[in-house]
Amino acid sequence: MSAIQRIIFFTAVGTALTLFGFGCGEQSEAPAPPKPAERAPAPAAKAPAPAAKSDAAPAASAAVEADAAAGKADYQIFCASCHGAAGDGDGPVAQALDPKPARHSDGNYMNPLTDDYLFKVIKFGGASVGKSPMMAPLGGSLSDQQIHNVIAFIRSLANPPYQP
Ligand code: HEC
Repeated sequence: MSAIQRIIFFTAVGTALTLFGFGCGEQSEAPAPPKPAERAPAPAAKAPAPAAKSDAAPAASAAVEADAAAGKADYQIFCASCHGAAGDGDGPVAQALDPKPARHSDGNYMNPLTDDYLFKVIKFGGASVGKSPMMAPLGGSLSDQQIHNVIAFIRSLANPPYQP
């Protein structure tokens, strides 16, 4: 091989490897990592790893069990303005509303409502269950997992306590 041939050869190999690497990198995001087995593991394993730390891991663990603490944070942002920070139905916006926002701390009212029902009200809004449209659909702001977390938080407010 002449020097020129060598350069061309290695450039071609390099390009092929780069393309191969990119192809696998992209594919590995959609399907689970295990498939692209031979060369991909290095780049493929690297990409999911940080993602697993930041998003996937909490989401996965939370999918098994709703996280009331995380739900509390979202509740303060998305619900407290109407429902009050402690779910007493006394948020600053509540005054202007009729009917009034539900009191999530009222176990006698809230406990008989099922998780499925609460999920529907929160995701698709009050109107989806024949309630006030002022109870806005929050599915655009909250993921399903976040809604489950918020429900877990609401349950923790109930007095008398909620018993699943
Ligand atoms: C703009 C004000 C507003 C915000 C923000 C709001 N709600 Fe409401 N919500 C209401 C009102 C008003 C009602 C009462 C609807 C009715 O009784 O017709 C209500 C009712 C409810 C109910 C009870 C439904 C029932 O069957 O009585 C639940 C549960 C609920 N909201 C959850 C939430 C959660 C969780 C959030 C935040 C993710 C939230 N709401 C944000 C205004 C609001």
